[in-house]
Amino acid sequence: MELTLSKDEQRIFDGELGQAARESMEILVALGKIYGAKKMVPITSAQISGVSFKTIGDAGLEYLGDLAKKGAKVKVQTFLNPAGMDRSQWKEMRIPEDFAKKSLLVLDAYSKMGIMETCTCTPYLIGLRPKQGEHVAWAESSAVSFCNSVLGARTNREGGPSALAAAICGMTPAYGLHLDENRMARLIVDVKCDLKTIADFSALGSFVGKIAKTNYPAFIGMKKESVSEEKLKVLGASMAATGSVPLFFAKAITPEWNIEDKAQEITITQKEINDEKKSLDSGLKPDLVTIGCPHASINEIEEVAELVAKKRPTCEFWVCTARKTKEKADALGYTKIIETAGGRVVADTCMVVCPLEKMGYVTTGTNSGKAAAYLPNLCRQKVAFGDLDDILYR
Ligand code: F3S
Repeated sequence: MELTLSKDEQRIFDGELGQAARESMEILVALGKIYGAKKMVPITSAQISGVSFKTIGDAGLEYLGDLAKKGAKVKVQTFLNPAGMDRSQWKEMRIPEDFAKKSLLVLDAYSKMGIMETCTCTPYLIGLRPKQGEHVAWAESSAVSFCNSVLGARTNREGGPSALAAAICGMTPAYGLHLDENRMARLIVDVKCDLKTIADFSALGSFVGKIAKTNYPAFIGMKKESVSEEKLKVLGASMAATGSVPLFFAKAITPEWNIEDKAQEITITQKEINDEKKSLDSGLKPDLVTIGCPHASINEIEEVAELVAKKRPTCEFWVCTARKTKEKADALGYTKIIETAGGRVVADTCMVVCPLEKMGYVTTGTNSGKAAAYLPNLCRQKVAFGDLDDILYR
């Protein structure tokens, strides 16, 4: 059966609602045809990637400016992934001025379309949290993983343009993870070791992502009491980075649990975790430690503040987070403690999408499997990987 449009959808496609909506509908219809969708499904929110000038460049900025000029407006609650810099601290962070100017133009174009300038990959930590079964169109890979896996909402891993098209039309083609029959795991992962820290869950995700590739893993053996949303977010982020995993299940932890009959099974012991941690770490002392990939929760910021209040780190460090979470950290006094210890709470951006390579850093420390995977290629950094009480004090 071919993709069928309702009368209202057909009107958008025919251009009755303006050029920007027509062009967006054309993108959605083309995608629907490629992936065999039979209909469109309404969405309740969209998350847009392609916000850093570093990743979209002049061509992307021109495209967005053009779309804004054509009168494009989003129809559903729509918010942004991290931008290339902190809007209020970019000078102190030594962000090049030209880059800063272009970054502000990108944000301005999105804002003209009615998009919230949240600039975070953890919208679900600042109240933008779809319910189980809701259809959305999110683009950033760690947010996609959390949304599907931990919240049980439904999104494909959108590209920047397709998420924006979905936001403008208020719908997306019903294929892939929007359909029950596709939300099935084909890889069972039996965790036979005790995972404690964010770096442990990063190592697990980094290892499993390489095996899973595009399959969806289902974890057994994880203890509910040793798992938190922070650990699940870094697990999903790491699997999305080393593999291309947009959905996982964890027995008795995630809201869904669907396994295919012929699923492959693997076992993870402490050895795999230790080996993965070693393989991610250069062993070098970092110039800068970056915490918060995906963006840190208020609990993570509190933990960092407690740690650095006891002992001052031996290097510069950032905690990357959403602006709304930073405001909470400011009010609770955590930002002050972190700054007193030589660190900075950075909002709106992250270690990967800001121009780290142009800011004089050579070795960056992280406890995130996703940052460890991306920093070498996207920021030309050597990586110091490990737990915070290690990398902050080398
Ligand atoms: Fe978020 Fe940047 Fe990591 S977008 S998931 S903090 S690479």
